[in-house]
Amino acid sequence: MKTIGIIGGCGHVGIPLGLALAHKNFDVTLFDINTAAVEQINHCILPFREEGAAEILRAHIAKNLAATTDMRRIREQDAVVFVTGTPVDEHHNPKINDVIKVIKTYLELMTKDQLVVLRSTIFPGTTDLIINLLNDAFGVTKLAFCPERIVQGKGIEEIFNLPQIIAPSSEEAYQEACLIFSKISPRIIRLAPKEAELVKLITNTWRYLEFAAANEFYMMVENEGIDFYTVYNAVKADYPRAAHFPKAGLAAGPCLFKDTMQLSAFYQNNFFLGQAAMLINEGLPNFLVRQLEKKMDGISHKKIAILGMTFKANNDDIRESLSFKIKKQLEFKMAVVLISDPYLNAAPPLDEVLKQADGVILGTPHDEYKNIRLAVPFVDCWGFWNRVHE
Ligand SMILES: NC(=O)c1ccc[n+]([C@@H]2O[C@H](COP(=O)([O-])OP(=O)(O)OC[C@H]3O[C@@H](n4cnc5c(N)ncnc54)[C@H](O)[C@@H]3O)[C@@H](O)[C@H]2O)c1
Repeated sequence: MKTIGIIGGCGHVGIPLGLALAHKNFDVTLFDINTAAVEQINHCILPFREEGAAEILRAHIAKNLAATTDMRRIREQDAVVFVTGTPVDEHHNPKINDVIKVIKTYLELMTKDQLVVLRSTIFPGTTDLIINLLNDAFGVTKLAFCPERIVQGKGIEEIFNLPQIIAPSSEEAYQEACLIFSKISPRIIRLAPKEAELVKLITNTWRYLEFAAANEFYMMVENEGIDFYTVYNAVKADYPRAAHFPKAGLAAGPCLFKDTMQLSAFYQNNFFLGQAAMLINEGLPNFLVRQLEKKMDGISHKKIAILGMTFKANNDDIRESLSFKIKKQLEFKMAVVLISDPYLNAAPPLDEVLKQADGVILGTPHDEYKNIRLAVPFVDCWGFWNRVHE
């Protein structure tokens, strides 16, 4: 097991995995249709922020790591890892066929001796469908579903520390997947495919539910005119059973919402807790806009700044960010919206935005905003400025 090809390799999951495997001396090729990202990688530039990734990229690029759009080289790989995703559509239904379509596209470039690894988050039952697909094509399947569970931005650190789940189609597939993942992971957990598919979805959904609980408490307490973080800090103070109670915040990004909706579809839409979490988390932007509206006695024609447009702090990823939902709702109420974000090149400088703003909503608690002192009304559901402003 020497050569590993990653399909979708220049994305947020493919790059940390590719770097980790190159660091452990595998020959890694990142296959991607995104020509710009492929060129960036080959020029030793990361297409997005990922802590600790630049050093590994520098050490391995053009040695045992390369990116390419030339898919013919897939057939040269000992193992082929698929990391393209299963999104949900506009009705919140998983587009199960997306990952299957990608695999079908590359079937004629694959060989029956290769280990196929599914690393994407997939709808329960998809691994078995793909095993059947490969059986039909090759008469045999050597496949393992090995879900990625890293948190975005800290993937490099986490990939070497998290246990790796392996759900194989056969003993041979298990042994070969272990040869790869035991090099980067401290512990292997063997499961059946559907068990592993559920582990991945439940992991992300659990996080989404935790944020929803915090967000509903935030809205409940603030609605009463009481400062949420006074209550929150008292709940948590030296009280071990509340140690993991997260702060309120915009729960967004490409995974948590989508995976909760996948689990809901899997449970034939009986997943009331998941649906409630979606309503709460997706309803928070509206609550924040109304909070500011009350504080300012109306926002029509006033200049409102949103600080932070990315979906999480100190990161440059805007996918599914709820700051854009806030922007849309402010515009609907005829406010003049100003945006700021140190990670977006197109956004105007923070000083300029703050000079003009009549009111502020904190969209993302980037470190760059820590020392801001505001003289205008603001809304901060994250509790980021809470103590600073007392
Ligand atoms: N982002 C995360 O932190 C994270 C964590 C765990 C799991 N996941 C899961 O991993 C999967 C991928 O997520 P991501 O965040 O890396 O997405 P991404 O959009 O960052 O990366 C996907 C990559 O696949 C490429 N691609 C798309 N279609 C292709 C094709 N036909 N052939 C070759 N390349 C193709 C894209 O150009 C892109 O570079 C999803 O299932 C997601 O749920 C993501």
